[in-house]
Amino acid sequence: MLCVVRVVSTSQLPIDLVGQVTAALPGTIVEVPPVGHVGLAGVDLRDADALVCLLLDKIDAKLLASAPKLRVVANCAVGVDNIDLAAAAAAGVTVTNTPDVLTEATAELAFTLMLAAARRLGEGERLVRSGAWTGWALDQLLGVQLHGKTAGIIGFGRIGQAFARRALGFGMRVIYAGPHEVSAEGTERVSIDEVFARADAVSLHCPLTPETRHVVNAARLATMKPTAIVVNTARGDCVDEPALIDALTAGRLAGAGLDVFVGEPKIDPRLLSCPRLVLAPHIGSATTEARTSMAQLCADAVIAVLSGRRPPNVVTRTA
Ligand code: NAP
Ligand code: GLV
Repeated sequence: MLCVVRVVSTSQLPIDLVGQVTAALPGTIVEVPPVGHVGLAGVDLRDADALVCLLLDKIDAKLLASAPKLRVVANCAVGVDNIDLAAAAAAGVTVTNTPDVLTEATAELAFTLMLAAARRLGEGERLVRSGAWTGWALDQLLGVQLHGKTAGIIGFGRIGQAFARRALGFGMRVIYAGPHEVSAEGTERVSIDEVFARADAVSLHCPLTPETRHVVNAARLATMKPTAIVVNTARGDCVDEPALIDALTAGRLAGAGLDVFVGEPKIDPRLLSCPRLVLAPHIGSATTEARTSMAQLCADAVIAVLSGRRPPNVVTRTA
């Protein structure tokens, strides 16, 4: 019996997955939705050999059991908290992600949020657009200067270090917390609690794990300077959102910038009216360059596994 190889993608991609896979592996059937993201409900995995998915797609043991031929899940994201890695390993499914190619884009967005929160850009933009701005005033929208201050980084991996390079370039000191000492000039490794107590801006760049869930919580926020800023481009659950809302509302924190949310795309309505908060719709890696390269890494991974080769970027633990 002829055994047909099938590749399915839950999303349209900015590369020609069909062309690339069929050129490398003639006869392979490749299914890509014509537009947007159809999700796991929109694809037939029963006899699929390879899956390209987004961070929105939850890959758990039940899903894997419904796809008995699956050999590779290529996650078009670096974070893999949407995938049960143990279940994938037990099912013999290779999981890949898309590191490095989105590092600079995500660090740029985190830095953008830090600057926007420090200089109250969201409030300023809303003021100008409202037509209520009456002109320059000596005490208008005073923010905090970052030059000479301390950036605190939780998770000193690829994106955390890229954020640090930018902070150093802005004349900031850099302290970081992470499982390992990293030799990077001008930086100092401290405990997580020390980052919150000492930093003028804390930026999260850790994966979402049981240890990093609510790494920003009421107790740590209470130790921060009232002039400090919190930035989260990691994952929504890394922040206890009600605790952050309380701190901002009470004026115990100068500002925050969030790109990721608990239960996104639903947003706690209190975040929408929370003072001193800059919001972005999970666009850390949203540059044409990064997204195209991410999709290409997924295509490379699928082709490698289906050709019997080990792909780059195999994930064996939460990235
Ligand atoms: P990475 O290179 O693996 O860096 C993560 C760092 O966090 C590693 O150094 C890791 O240390 C450290 N870490 C792990 N557990 C920790 C803990 N409990 N406390 C402190 N640090 C801890 O990953 P990356 O490429 O920089 O990406 C980081 C995360 O950013 C991703 O997992 C994803 O959730 C998020 N992200 C978001 C966007 C967006 O669009 N907003 C885009 C890209 C990535 P070890 O290596 O020693 O474990
Ligand atoms: C985006 O959030 C990613 O993990 O790539």
